[in-house]
Amino acid sequence: MKTLNKKIKVGIVGSGFISGIHVRSLKSVSDAEVMACSSIDEEGLKKFTKKYEIPYSFIDYRKMLEMDEIDVVCLGVPNNLHLQMTLDCATAGKHIICEKPLCNNLRDADSMINTCKEAGVKLMYVEQCCFAPKYIKLKELYQSGSLGKIYFIKHSQKHDGPHSTWFWDVEKVGGGVVMDMGCHTFGFLRWLTDNAEVEDIYSEMGTYMHKDKTRGEDTAITIIKFKGGVTGVSEVSWAKKGGYDDRAEVYGLKGISFADMSSSLRTYSEIGFEYVSEKAPISLGWSYPIFEEEWQSGFPQMFSHFIDCVKNNKIPIITGEDGKAILEMVFAAYKSAKEGKKVKLPFKSYAAKPIDLWIS
Ligand SMILES: NC(=O)c1ccc[n+]([C@@H]2O[C@H](COP(=O)([O-])OP(=O)(O)OC[C@H]3O[C@@H](n4cnc5c(N)ncnc54)[C@H](O)[C@@H]3O)[C@@H](O)[C@H]2O)c1
Repeated sequence: MKTLNKKIKVGIVGSGFISGIHVRSLKSVSDAEVMACSSIDEEGLKKFTKKYEIPYSFIDYRKMLEMDEIDVVCLGVPNNLHLQMTLDCATAGKHIICEKPLCNNLRDADSMINTCKEAGVKLMYVEQCCFAPKYIKLKELYQSGSLGKIYFIKHSQKHDGPHSTWFWDVEKVGGGVVMDMGCHTFGFLRWLTDNAEVEDIYSEMGTYMHKDKTRGEDTAITIIKFKGGVTGVSEVSWAKKGGYDDRAEVYGLKGISFADMSSSLRTYSEIGFEYVSEKAPISLGWSYPIFEEEWQSGFPQMFSHFIDCVKNNKIPIITGEDGKAILEMVFAAYKSAKEGKKVKLPFKSYAAKPIDLWIS
């Protein structure tokens, strides 16, 4: 397939939190055009398509897939729906941008990867951390040798709990915070090491703040041994007050680098203002309002890359295969937390979802 000499037409599935980010990001990509949106939330869909001036809307996403004009479909729906929607998109000949986690189990991951291959469509996996400007700089420093031999890396993502109720349902999410945010930290650490092989994983998990809402864990620490001698640590939490926090650290024998993913303004207000940053509850007194939040997180840059891959038939830097490798790490983490010991990779599991290995 050669370069497509036209704008790439996109269909969105979902009209919630992440779909808003998808559309705003796509609107910044000159080669992309958001043509249609589908969501089972009829009222939400109406508001969403009006707000973003999206010409076509569908309650049933399969109707949207009948639109010949659509080249790519972007999935922003609960995790348990990623499998079937991906299979339907591939069968309809659409490329797919799939939100993290790829899906809820390893067998489904294979099915998604194989179906997309057979259909000749790209399965692009969302991991915006690999496009976040500060983290790109961190990787440059890591690779340049200026920090000496790297022996320890760390990534943490924390806030005090998700915005939609389905996240508390382990049947839909597949787990708790490790499934939801661990796939970011695992994906990031893997990307930082240029996808170094993982030798083993050790994890400890607990539920501290949200026992009344979920059977899933809301806090976890995971230690990942990469081949080549680098140790990675992932810290994730749905039990951390004060807003979203995302940071990384790299330790080498000749230097270190610390990156708080976002930059903000140190601000004091006795009146307050509309928005501080993701999941930050108050703006009174001292606060840290963020600017260009989606750009600092890497979303527009990631969508620009995915659209370029479709338009010019390139291989995305993060694919369904990466999504599966990250999911394998997630499965190993739950197994380790259950057994209280390291789990070696490669790790196979036929469990329906990762958390089954922890709470069974
Ligand atoms: N990359 C990130 O940083 C990031 C951040 C948040 C969420 N996510 C991922 O995005 C996905 C969606 O999360 P969210 O926060 O937007 O959730 P959300 O609850 O805000 O939105 C979910 C949307 O899916 C729609 N939906 C549900 N079932 C549907 C169906 N059968 N057909 C069409 N639409 C349907 C709902 O109507 C809703 O609009 C999840 O996989 C989540 O893990 C990723």
